[in-house]
Formats: sequence, structure tokens, C-alpha cells
Amino acid sequence: MLPVPYGVLQIPELAVASQQPDTNPICFSLIVPTYNESKNIKNIVRQLSQLLDDAIPRAYELIVVDDNSPDDTWKIAYELMPDYPQLKVMRRIEERGLSTAVIRGWQAASGEVLGVIDGDLQHPPELLLQLWSEIQRGADLAVASRHVDGGGVSEWSFIRRFLSRGAQLLGLIILPGVIGRVSDPMSGYFLIRRQCIAGRILSPLGYKILIEVLGRGKVAWIAEVGYVFQERVAGESKVTSKQYVEYIQHLLRLRLSIGPIGRLIRFGAVGLTGVFVDMLVLYLLSDPSTLGWGLTRSKIIAAELAILNNFFWNDIWTFGDISRRQPGKRQRLKRLLKFNIICLAGLVLNVLVLNLIYNFIIHNQYLANLVAIATVTFWNFWVNLKLSWRVTDVKQK
Ligand code: GDD
Ligand code: MN
Repeated sequence: MLPVPYGVLQIPELAVASQQPDTNPICFSLIVPTYNESKNIKNIVRQLSQLLDDAIPRAYELIVVDDNSPDDTWKIAYELMPDYPQLKVMRRIEERGLSTAVIRGWQAASGEVLGVIDGDLQHPPELLLQLWSEIQRGADLAVASRHVDGGGVSEWSFIRRFLSRGAQLLGLIILPGVIGRVSDPMSGYFLIRRQCIAGRILSPLGYKILIEVLGRGKVAWIAEVGYVFQERVAGESKVTSKQYVEYIQHLLRLRLSIGPIGRLIRFGAVGLTGVFVDMLVLYLLSDPSTLGWGLTRSKIIAAELAILNNFFWNDIWTFGDISRRQPGKRQRLKRLLKFNIICLAGLVLNVLVLNLIYNFIIHNQYLANLVAIATVTFWNFWVNLKLSWRVTDVKQK
């Protein structure tokens, strides 16, 4: 039984050293996630092994990742191992879920090319060789798609088709740059080069592992091969409404965490904590019921404490991916000084806008303060992105 990886969902850069010294190097690792597939597992292992033994004999591994199926799928797979030397089995007890099963399988894999196929024979195994040849032609990602020439679904109900297409449309609205890159983002049948996703912290939800790979990976060349999604011959789909909810959560999580829009949303969220700090300190210092200090002096202290608060959260979260590549106290201090100078310049702008609005437009210091903070937030985001956490400082990958 393969040991189950735990902790961060991150694929190692190089193939796990599970390559036995005296065996052929494994170039391709195919994950077969299973849950209650006892009636299908023998068939799928046999068909996949036959195909791969012909195409890349002994240079592949099949990794069945089973979540402790009540029907003992893992046990049946384990008992098949003597007949299939390239077969490995991982039985997960603590963790459950399709997409994390695939990633744990990839973490334990040895191949430079990683793949996933459903374990219920709804993904035609023979398509694997076409996907493999696309990778050999140089593709980073080869996806089996139901929505290109030669693609389709068998007897799906109107509802199922509607839900699948609806989910895709929703994805196009929330994450056009990701979902729009493939014709079948819901596909669970694809091959990916390890280097495209290695080292990146993945945090998928539910079923759709492909959108996680597209969202967080560095994928340039994508190839698609049409296939018809087959009817199940045994067992039943585990898809419930829970997977649809998780899909939406997954889209929103990816939206928040990738690209400039995700970064601006995170910067804005951090700015909100800064507003809270700014308002609280402004109240504690300037309100007649507390210290009753002058507005400007209170505002400067409040704003400086808010700046320090914002730097801390922006450095570990908003720009965390960049700061982690600029390690060390000196670098961090440099970023803090730049951030502070930019935000102090923003503070001058803030105080000017606050007084301008307070004296000429809205005679309420809290509302005027909010408008001033919003104005300065855009200033701070843009200039800090360009100067404090500038990407040019980061070694190009
Ligand atoms: N380890 C593990 N853990 N495997 C799981 C789990 C789980 O929690 N849930 C499902 N699986 C396995 C099933 O055993 C099957 O091999 C595969 O994942 C797909 O599960 P199904 O329940 O059959 O899903 P489907 O037929 O509705 O397929 C849909 O989702 C697939 C996965 O994304 C379609 O969208 C397919 O295109 C897609 O491949
Ligand atoms: Mn299925």
C-alpha cells in the first residue's frame, strides 16, 4: 500500500524518489480515484494496463486512490497488484474527496507526466493514448473534452446537461481567464506536465480538479481530444448537490486568489481591516467621550497604526506569493519602508481629501473619512504593486 501524503497539497518539483534504483524510470503516473467502484475496478485496471503495456511498457504507474470505500474497492485493487506490477494502491482513511484524492496520488507519483481518469469506465480508456501523444507533441495539458469534435455525452438527462452547461457558464462569468481556456472545464480526464503545477500550493474543493490546475498552474499549451462520456455499467455517480455548492465555492476561492483582480480584492479586504483600525484609533483618540485630541493629530496616529496593520496582512496574504520569493528581514524591512512611504504619501492625500470633503462636501468626519480612505486605497494598491512588491524583484521562474 502506498503511504498517504498529508499536509499541504503541493506536488513536489521532482518525481518522488519512489523510483526503485533497478527498475525502469516511470515517465507517466495515472491516478484512478475510486469510491465504491468494486464492480469496475478489475475492468479498468485490466484495460488501462493493456493499453499502457503496449504503448509505454514498464514506464508508467497506475495509482488507485481509494477513500476507504465501504465496498472494499481498495482491497480488490490491492489483490490485483501481483498480476499488474505497475499498479499501486493508496487507501485514504482521514481525508475524503475526489480532487484531494487526485492530488495526494500526484504527490506520491514518480512520473514527469501526471494524469487522472475516472475509475468507473465512463472515460473511455483508449483515449489515453491520444492524450499521451498530445503531451509527446509538446502540450503542457491534454484534456479529454465532451465539447469538441468527437465529443458528447451519452444518455444524459436534460437536467444533467443543463446543470453541467450552467456550471460552465457561471465559471465563465466568475473566472473567464481560467474556465474560458478549455471547452470542457468540468472534465476529470486529463494529463498534465508535473512542472506546470509543481511547487504550487493547491486548494481545490469538490470534484473539479481541472479548474484548480488551470487556475493555479502555469499552463501554456493546451490540447483537447473529443470523447463521448459513457453510461455507467456498474455502481452509481457520487455527484450530489454538495458538489455543485463546492464548485461555486471553488470558483470564488480561485477568483480571490489568482490574477490582479484577486489581488485587488485581497488588498481591499486588508484595507477594510485597516479602516477598522483607523476608525477605532480615531475614536479612541479624538472622540470627546475618550481622549478628545485634535482631529489631525488623531488621524495621523490612527492612519500610521492602520498602515502597519495593512503591511502585515498584505505581506503575508495579498502579496504573499511575491514576498515568499523575497525572503529575509532586510527585504521585508525594505518593503515595509516603501509601503510606509507610499501610504504616508497616501495619508497626506487622505488628510487633504478628508478635510476637503469634511469642510466643503459632507460635514461628517466619519463619512468624509470613508470617502478619503476609498480614494487612497486605489492609490496605495497600484503604487505598492509597482514599487513595494514589484515582480521584477522576483526571480523569473
Ligand atoms: N477517492 C475518491 N474520493 N474518489 C471519488 C470520490 C471521493 O470522494 N468521489 C467520486 N470518486 C471517484 C468515483 O469513484 C469515480 O471513479 C470518479 O471519481 C468520478 O466520480 P462519479 O461520481 O462517477 O462522477 P460523475 O460520473 O458524475 O462524473 C463527473 O465528475 C467527474 C469527476 O470530475 C463528470 O463531470 C466527469 O466528467 C468527471 O470526470
Ligand atoms: Mn462517473
